[in-house]
Amino acid sequence: MPSAADFEKLGVFYLGRPYDWQQKKGQDGLILYDSKDLVTHAVCVGMTGSGKTGLCLALIEEAAIDGIPAILIDPKGDLANLLLTFPGLKSEDFRPWVNEDDARRKNLSVDDYARQQAELWQKGLASWGEDGARIQRLRDAADFAIYTPGSNAGIPLSILKSFAAPPPAIREDEELLRERIGTTATSLLGLLGIDADPIKSREHILISTILDTAWRQGQELDLAGLIQQIQTPPVKRVGVLDLDAFFPSKDRFALAMSLNNLLAAPGFGAWMEGEPLDVGNLLHTPEGKPRVAIVSIAHLNDAERMFFVSLLLNQVVGWMRTQSGTTSLRALLYMDEIFGFFPPVANPPSKTPLLTLLKQARAFGVGVVLATQNPVDLDYKGLSNTGTWFIGRLQTERDKARVLDGLEGAAGSAGQGFDRAGLERILSGLSSRVFLMNNVHEDHPVVFESRWVMSYLRGPLTRAQIKTLMDARRGAPAPASAKAAPAPGAAARPEPVSAPKPAGKGARAAAPEPAAAPPAAGAHSCRPTCRSTSCPRAAGRPPERASSTGRCWWARPRSAWPTRAAAWT
Ligand SMILES: Nc1ncnc2c1ncn2[C@@H]1O[C@H](COP(=O)(O)OP(=O)(O)OP(=O)(O)O)[C@@H](O)[C@H]1O
Ligand SMILES: [Mg+2]
Repeated sequence: MPSAADFEKLGVFYLGRPYDWQQKKGQDGLILYDSKDLVTHAVCVGMTGSGKTGLCLALIEEAAIDGIPAILIDPKGDLANLLLTFPGLKSEDFRPWVNEDDARRKNLSVDDYARQQAELWQKGLASWGEDGARIQRLRDAADFAIYTPGSNAGIPLSILKSFAAPPPAIREDEELLRERIGTTATSLLGLLGIDADPIKSREHILISTILDTAWRQGQELDLAGLIQQIQTPPVKRVGVLDLDAFFPSKDRFALAMSLNNLLAAPGFGAWMEGEPLDVGNLLHTPEGKPRVAIVSIAHLNDAERMFFVSLLLNQVVGWMRTQSGTTSLRALLYMDEIFGFFPPVANPPSKTPLLTLLKQARAFGVGVVLATQNPVDLDYKGLSNTGTWFIGRLQTERDKARVLDGLEGAAGSAGQGFDRAGLERILSGLSSRVFLMNNVHEDHPVVFESRWVMSYLRGPLTRAQIKTLMDARRGAPAPASAKAAPAPGAAARPEPVSAPKPAGKGARAAAPEPAAAPPAAGAHSCRPTCRSTSCPRAAGRPPERASSTGRCWWARPRSAWPTRAAAWT
């Protein structure tokens, strides 16, 4: 049985013990991973239930105990389990968090099931030489917080500043600046449902031109400013074409309106509240304590996830470039399911900053850890410099073949030999929580079983559970409509922009949404699909999908507005 003295050493991560995959049993000894090796990044692949999240959470726990902060991108909702740490390991600690459906399935009362889970965790940890004192150490070592962009359940993250000029380290690097502009434009257009080709799409070219002009001058830009500039761009020509020939003003107006509708949509306000999206603040508390920042995106739709993840990755690149060089591990970025964000052929806006991180983060001590259950969906060329591969049980021969291709590429980049047949045999014999670790900093691959995690793995947390956890942190039971106080310096949500009358024949004019109370429901003629926040038809209804034609009469030309008296009678 290992003891704390064997594994509690600064700079080494206790990941598990060696495992004999032929005899199918654990062996004596410890798998201690040198934290410095993680600056060349890691990828963790395995079928569902193979234990990837368990292994990666063990790694994050080890990093936290060593004072290394981390940003965790959580598309599934189970990384918040890191906040379920109970040094007393008592059943009443587990009771509020156990999955009641699991209790029912086992024909146990919730109390009995909680008792069983507490015992399971106590025994599980003890068999790996861990105990409540280590859990306390983990809790004391770092701050654990759940961020929920676009929602108030956890700590909301404001994207207001995400269109501000990047730091000089990015602006002065032509390639990085171009990447940042391109991915910002693509992710923003993605949010509007426009799948824009950076070369062919005029929307993409226009937004990129606006960002480029503003950022080169170090100018602040927010969504409201962007909407205004789409209508009156800072340039008169695009390429050799006159601006109006390239993108007529009435079409620019339509684009501005879609963005404006997005901004005005009920629910979008949550994207503008809370702490600014600032990587330095995510990684450390104001007092300088390392933080494990769990950024939950499980509640977002696909376009919102891509938008947010791209913004966050861009911010990480920007922050990283302002750091001094180092050879030790300074921070971790972990993404629990990379499916769709780093595909082999397509080029979504998340891929470019991820590639940049994989190429450059090493020099700044930032380790990237990526996990997936879809090995076929990975860009292996982009992963060829990844130093550590954790490969768990795989489902199909095709999955095995793809992972072996990836490993072969990584071995080639590191100038190492590669025993494909031998590794293939091992991969076929892996069971749950057993991984083949190929670390280019070590002489040969090892098979190991992951250690028991200290956090209670209850599975994905609900919105209400996230709220309970974060309310406890916020210090007071927040009312249902509670909003996190904006951080100092964070601006309030901008008002949707009023569009000036566009030039051009046939263009529809728009008027600002008045701040006054809306008219009576029968007093206007907008369509049922109108989703203007001041539209009385929308009152009490869930937000509907945007319609390009349905508009509240408040959006009609000012001359068409009813008189106030008429509207309110
Ligand atoms: N290190 C661990 N300590 C304790 N229990 C573990 C550990 N790893 C896995 N488990 C158990 O196995 C279950 C499945 O593991 P895990 O969630 O890590 O799989 P996964 O590979 O991430 O699956 P998916 O791809 O579906 O997310 C967990 O819910 C937990 O009960
Ligand atoms: Mg998982």
